[in-house]
Amino acid sequence: MAQDTFQLSGNAADIYEAQKVPAMFGPLADAMLNIVPLDANDRDLDVACGTGIVARKVKERTDPPARVVGADLNEGMIGTAQSLSDPFARSCEWVVASAEDMPFENAEFTKVFCQQGLQFFPDQISALVEMRRVLADDGQIFITIWKEPSPFFTALAASIENHINKSLAEKSLAPFN
Ligand SMILES: C[S@@+](CC[C@H](N)C(=O)[O-])C[C@H]1O[C@@H](n2cnc3c(N)ncnc32)[C@H](O)[C@@H]1O
Repeated sequence: MAQDTFQLSGNAADIYEAQKVPAMFGPLADAMLNIVPLDANDRDLDVACGTGIVARKVKERTDPPARVVGADLNEGMIGTAQSLSDPFARSCEWVVASAEDMPFENAEFTKVFCQQGLQFFPDQISALVEMRRVLADDGQIFITIWKEPSPFFTALAASIENHINKSLAEKSLAPFN
């Protein structure tokens, strides 16, 4: 998959932040972080951070705030993360980087998060090896992916296939790969 596959056009990242984050990715981040023992001494990395909801919430939940870095392949997502006035967003570090080749030192982080990103990586094994490389030996990796398409997305894909085409229907199910 080409590097530009995930480059969003126009204000798509702002729309993602305004609509999808409050509706879905924010609550999902809370559900994950509610069962993760966070520590102010941690060095946290949010891989495929999008507009940075997990990174921001980790900042908010650590006192004093831990070091938190968000990395995403998409320049628009990182641009939106950098533009937010939220003080927790402003104190995170934001980096444009592919999950398969991250510009971080070995063992630089003690916790690595990847919320709903792994299914999109063209080379998932390389991304997992890379997450392990940047993780300290006693560190932890937290990954969330959907278990299966919901009835809504299954029905939506069937309708797209009926009324538009199969290729677009398959694309609509990419989050569940
Ligand atoms: C569904 S969004 C999830 C974003 C964020 N983790 C969240 O919970 O809001 C998937 C993200 O994966 C990113 N992505 C896709 N392929 C990537 C890659 N190879 N390396 C880094 N990020 C990637 C996209 O740019 C997008 O921001």
